[in-house]
Amino acid sequence: MSPPKRIALLGSTGSIGRQTLDVVSLHPDRFRIVALACRRSSAEVVAQARRFRPRLVAVVDEASAAEVASALSDMDLQVAAGQEAMVQCATYEEADITVAAAAGVAGLVPVWEAVKAGKTLALANKEPLVVAGHLITAEAAKSGAKLLPVDSEHSAIFQSLLGQRKDAISRVILTASGGAFRDLSDDELARVTPADALAHPTWQMGPKVTVDSATLMNKGLELIEARWLFDLAPEILDVVLHRESIVHSFIEFADGSVLAHLARPDMRLPIQFALSYPERLPRPDPPPDFAALGALHFAAFEPARWPCVALAREAMSVGGTAPTALNAADEVAVAWFLAGRIPFPTIAQIVEFALENHTPTAGESLEELLETDRRVRDLVERNAQKWIRSVT
Ligand SMILES: NC(=O)c1ccc[n+]([C@@H]2O[C@H](COP(=O)([O-])OP(=O)(O)OC[C@H]3O[C@@H](n4cnc5c(N)ncnc54)[C@H](OP(=O)(O)O)[C@@H]3O)[C@@H](O)[C@H]2O)c1
Repeated sequence: MSPPKRIALLGSTGSIGRQTLDVVSLHPDRFRIVALACRRSSAEVVAQARRFRPRLVAVVDEASAAEVASALSDMDLQVAAGQEAMVQCATYEEADITVAAAAGVAGLVPVWEAVKAGKTLALANKEPLVVAGHLITAEAAKSGAKLLPVDSEHSAIFQSLLGQRKDAISRVILTASGGAFRDLSDDELARVTPADALAHPTWQMGPKVTVDSATLMNKGLELIEARWLFDLAPEILDVVLHRESIVHSFIEFADGSVLAHLARPDMRLPIQFALSYPERLPRPDPPPDFAALGALHFAAFEPARWPCVALAREAMSVGGTAPTALNAADEVAVAWFLAGRIPFPTIAQIVEFALENHTPTAGESLEELLETDRRVRDLVERNAQKWIRSVT
């Protein structure tokens, strides 16, 4: 048997990070953690380091990094601090694969540096591709970096396309559960709380992606992610509602055949596939029981009800810095909603405002994209009085 694959894990203390560690625990002879990174969850990363014995622990927040260094002083490992530490983890030389599972655009620079270094990446963190997909894919073609999808819809597309000819694809359809508020009226939507939004019906995820699932911005971001991961024309990307989250994507081919990928809604499966690819390793949980399920439901996606998808599509078709503007505004708006500062429907209004007031440029360098991210956050903050309500 080959030696264990060595893994550098960005965002180890998050939902995807912890599930990645579950997968590693299930296959200790196949995978080994060599580097861990988080922002500031010091107690959790210390416990992870004691259990998985990496060579590097990277912590962005300097005070938390000092706590981690002190708590792990008896261990033979390096604790690194600051933004640079994330890059150190992402490009860790001893790692065979980097799992990118930090949240949001914060993962962009580490992912970019890992791509430049020609690493193999298991990508859960979709925002780097949303913002800089054109640069990342071009750079990967030069450096030889490989991008393996972790997002369940994209893992499904990846798996359905194995052995297929891409020029025979006529449509790629991502399924959407509809999030926590799929059955609410407009009036009810205006009154939902952050706690309501965080109760996703089928997936357990971090706060940002859970709120994005409720607005369906997550589906919009996934369309852009799919466009870059698989080099697909935006026009052939589609969405269908599917409440059970068993079918993760469909591929339609020129002859009318449709291939789908089905699995239980459990992120450990796509994480494991990205880590073990091209092999398939066993998992303890059984496949879906179709007789017990009885039926799977699909419904047309209504663009007017979920404006974030149309906004993401618009940003995708404009290209350049437009997706950066979309994402920056969404990150600020979601944080405000979670802090109880704006009602739920205002998230889409803020994103729309940002796109209307952003003059897109080509986005030819990472610096230009990072500058756009800063400017759009600043634009939204400067206009906060339009949307912010007093906290009750
Ligand atoms: N969760 C899912 O089921 C799922 C599915 C598909 C795709 N994704 C994507 O995967 C990514 C991670 O999602 P998640 O649900 O795992 O998020 P999460 O639970 O919020 O975890 C985020 C992780 O990133 C770290 N982090 C947050 N901000 C950071 C920063 N500024 N710099 C460095 N590290 C930072 C956090 O560290 P601290 O704990 O120290 O704050 C934590 O380890 C997102 O892009 C999401 O869209 C998630």
